[in-house]
Amino acid sequence: MTNQEPPKKRITQVDLFLDAEELEKVERSVMDRWLTEGPNAAKLAELIRDYTKTKHVVFAPNGTLGLFLGLLGLDLPRGSEILIPAFTFYGSAMSAVFAGLKPVFVDCYPDTYNIDVEDLERKITPATRAIMPVHIYGQMCDIERVMDVANRHGLAVIEDAAQAFGVHFNGKHAGTFGNVGVFSFFSDKSITMGEGSALFTQDDALFERLKLLRNQGRPNSGTFIHPEHGMNFRITDLQAGMGLVQFGKLDRIRSRRNELWRLYASELAGVGDIKLMQVHPSSDVIPFRVAFTTAHKADLEAFMREENIETRGFFYPMHLQPKLKSDPPVSLPVSEKLSETGLCLPVHHHISDDDARRVAATIRTFFANR
Ligand SMILES: Cc1ncc(COP(=O)(O)O)c(C=O)c1O
Repeated sequence: MTNQEPPKKRITQVDLFLDAEELEKVERSVMDRWLTEGPNAAKLAELIRDYTKTKHVVFAPNGTLGLFLGLLGLDLPRGSEILIPAFTFYGSAMSAVFAGLKPVFVDCYPDTYNIDVEDLERKITPATRAIMPVHIYGQMCDIERVMDVANRHGLAVIEDAAQAFGVHFNGKHAGTFGNVGVFSFFSDKSITMGEGSALFTQDDALFERLKLLRNQGRPNSGTFIHPEHGMNFRITDLQAGMGLVQFGKLDRIRSRRNELWRLYASELAGVGDIKLMQVHPSSDVIPFRVAFTTAHKADLEAFMREENIETRGFFYPMHLQPKLKSDPPVSLPVSEKLSETGLCLPVHHHISDDDARRVAATIRTFFANR
């Protein structure tokens, strides 16, 4: 017999807030024999329109394809430049590449991690046609200033709001500022359908075009005459049923994640060299990650792993990605530094206050031992 302590409970980075309600809804679709996009999707679109005040909603199979569909809808000239923050998920940049555009990367602010509007304006050239601002980690970028730049230079805007469902800037919902806004409902997003995406637009003509593009170039299914080119970007009603239940949980998700955020912030105040992400004063937040920077990232990450706590690093910047880096290389120092120093703590519905306190106490122990 040894006196070894039992392993500590594992605290995972991501967990799903699912229960019998989602299961019942999916079962209902099966029993009703309605699997492809149908009544659940129509109801979900209606609820989303009412809640976000967007004029139009269409769905897509995931956020990456949602961005791709949005760019096809904007019909930008092939080879034209689109400005994208370097600090984002790979899917943002890939949607542009596959739409035949040239991504040009922009640095971000060190405190909010969102697109640096001065750098954005500096990167505009005669070939620039669009901007893809990204709303990072559950808050919005300074979208009003981005829109001001876009309007002054005549550029289209596609908001990558993959991580920002339920989030507002000066009271206006993410994804309703640009020509088109795109959300993700992937498993780690605040509300999820497993995979899935919603596109918002306020523009009637663009809405009509998106509907054709996503449904094989025809206004309705069941006809074999296709007036336009189009693909299949439909979702299933199984997904949409799950989305309906998740949408009903949004307020609980928002308040719990904000409680956890505040708890972490008070427990970690003044600890080591930790700097928590700051939120722009005009944005509200549904924390997608509790993100911070420290010069001791690698050691802290290893220490947390030994304590059975999962952390996650930040994005690797787009301008350094093997298939995206330019020759000569560009330098975007803030995005690079964030990638080197950033770490995320778990924030989801199965983290109790005690779990969050244990995470914070582990971080305090790490710094106390240095
Ligand atoms: C900022 C951002 N853009 C795009 C995507 C792509 O969304 P999806 O995973 O649904 O394709 C993600 C997903 O994590 C994201 O975080």
